[in-house]
Amino acid sequence: MKLLTNMFPVSEDLWQRAVNLIPAGTQTLSKGPDQFVRGVTPKYLKKGAGSHVWDVDGNEYIDYPMALGPILLGYDYAPVTEAVVKQIREGTTFTLMHPLEVEVAELLNSIIPSAEMVRFGKNGADVTSAAVKVARAATGRDHIAYCGYHGCQDWYAVTTPRNKGIPRSLAGFMHPFEYNRIETLEKAFAENPGRIGCVIMEVPGVDPAIDPVTGKNFLQRVKEVAHRNGAVFVLDEIVTGFRYSVGGAQKYYRVTPDLSCFGKGMANGFAISALVGKREFMKELNEVFFSMTYSGDTVGLAAAKATIKELLNKPVIGHIWEMGRILHEGINGFAEKSGVKLRITGKPPRGGISIKNENGEEDLLLKSVFLQETIKRGVLFGGPVFISYSHNTDDIRKTIDASCEAIKVLRAAIDSKDPASFLEGEPVGVVFRQRN
Ligand SMILES: Cc1ncc(COP(=O)(O)O)c(C=O)c1O
Repeated sequence: MKLLTNMFPVSEDLWQRAVNLIPAGTQTLSKGPDQFVRGVTPKYLKKGAGSHVWDVDGNEYIDYPMALGPILLGYDYAPVTEAVVKQIREGTTFTLMHPLEVEVAELLNSIIPSAEMVRFGKNGADVTSAAVKVARAATGRDHIAYCGYHGCQDWYAVTTPRNKGIPRSLAGFMHPFEYNRIETLEKAFAENPGRIGCVIMEVPGVDPAIDPVTGKNFLQRVKEVAHRNGAVFVLDEIVTGFRYSVGGAQKYYRVTPDLSCFGKGMANGFAISALVGKREFMKELNEVFFSMTYSGDTVGLAAAKATIKELLNKPVIGHIWEMGRILHEGINGFAEKSGVKLRITGKPPRGGISIKNENGEEDLLLKSVFLQETIKRGVLFGGPVFISYSHNTDDIRKTIDASCEAIKVLRAAIDSKDPASFLEGEPVGVVFRQRN
């Protein structure tokens, strides 16, 4: 395969113009250059078709971050593009409400177990924040137990290292608990009696552990503990929604949350998110302040309607699980044979890349060598590995081939005891996401 180094003059020119104009250089931290190997990775993409993307210098790649998850069906997926173009011609936003608000709410109500009522936002953070407000309103309690990542809004961002500009006092409301360790949630309740009104969590790429005594899984147990302590259980399905199953991780793992949050895969890359939940909690939104100019924007709604119809009529979910399975097994099998501690982790439709050193620690330098060698071979890997309906067996085979070549280089880099000397660009920085 053709090597693609030093082919990014247009990317570099744009970046030079951006650095003094755009704080942090990027609108989305996980898309910024420091999340990739600078020098061997383009900085700007301008076109996508199916599972492939093209950078501003004309190079083509098989994409795996898929815009950090939203592209579930594929770039420029015809039924969605056509629905959106038709809608744009009719109008993107109006003085009064639009029928699509009702139609998409009805669709969500028919496919998501917990969706008795529905409200829309644009980003995931809109609806995780709405969920927290609703839970606080319903319980009269301000404290939140949380597990995973929930967006950039103050209530959550205060718990991260990127907490500048947020009153520190907000941190006092936040209580982390650990995935698959129910005792950490019990402890949060025990230490804050009568104060926690909301338990919010995402499902990482690890199955919820089954309790050997009750046979209940971790998500079901979290719900139980939340309810026993008078709190609302919120499942953040921004990543898992429309991906684990048409009804999300809640359907896949058989748990019905009080409230749940959807975004990313919902509209194949168009901006829309949804808070759904039980009527008794959702009705708090009659009074809770959640109202934005673009919440009912018809473009996102038309894209969501078209996307959900595809999910209902085509074997999208089966396909992404099967392609993901082949990819994970192909790469992991070769890594294991090579004695390299590289693993595509997570579940088939949503993976991650883990590369550990001899001491068993995640190693960003080794990960950088892998990302460098795969991008040079036409595969754009990053943090998350998301499979879309457009990834076909040819893409997967080429990706496994490229990854095997990259693993051979990784093996040589490890054996040399000087992996840095294998890097042609600057290594990737720390991923700005925390898991607990
Ligand atoms: C689990 C989870 N919740 C919430 C969010 C926030 O979504 P957004 O970035 O669209 O605001 C994300 C974003 O990655 C996420 O992964």
